[in-house]
Amino acid sequence: MSKDLLIRPVTPKDAKWINELMDKDWGGLPLVIREKKYYPKDLDGIIAEINQTAAGFLFYENQGNDCEIIVFEVFDKFKGTGSAMLDKLKNIAKKNNSKRIYLMTTNDNLDALRFYQKRGFTICAIHIDSVKNSRKIKPTIDLHGDYGIPLRDEIDLEFWV
Ligand SMILES: CC(C)(COP(=O)(O)OP(=O)(O)OC[C@H]1O[C@@H](n2cnc3c(N)ncnc32)[C@H](O)[C@@H]1OP(=O)(O)O)[C@@H](O)C(=O)NCCC(=O)NCCS
Repeated sequence: MSKDLLIRPVTPKDAKWINELMDKDWGGLPLVIREKKYYPKDLDGIIAEINQTAAGFLFYENQGNDCEIIVFEVFDKFKGTGSAMLDKLKNIAKKNNSKRIYLMTTNDNLDALRFYQKRGFTICAIHIDSVKNSRKIKPTIDLHGDYGIPLRDEIDLEFWV
């Protein structure tokens, strides 16, 4: 992990570049998880900065006992930034008395499945072929995802805080 890594809360000043990244990397807004729409402006979030340049973002929502990761992206991957951000979120969840960190990823996202499972998360549900329902709400969701894998199932993972 970089010595110069800073993790800070999102501020309203971040809205412009976050929205640009949503267009570039996430098929635009809204984000859709199991047919529910999400907008980063309505969520809590943390930003990673390296040498004062944005290196990643993570938005989450507190829902009862759960802290749900809605969107999480690191720009220069596999250098420890994501691990540092996830550790920060685990601390936030503890302070907020959340019982569980929870998230959905898709069947193609092998990097994320590896990342989370090696950091204490376990798969708690698999929604077979459910991406087609999200695609009805957000037609920009690709047919193929990472590594050219057909994008079809939603996989839930949980971490007990
Ligand atoms: C998933 C994601 C957020 C993880 O962030 P990241 O910064 O790549 O994560 P890290 O670098 O902390 O960890 C990834 C791996 O790189 C390794 N790594 C850490 N530091 C490293 C270094 N300096 N050099 C090489 N590898 C390193 C870690 O050991 C880890 O490997 P492991 O899983 O075998 O332990 C990121 O890959 C990403 O943005 N993916 C695309 C969007 C996405 O899928 N988001 C999550 C869906 S909810």
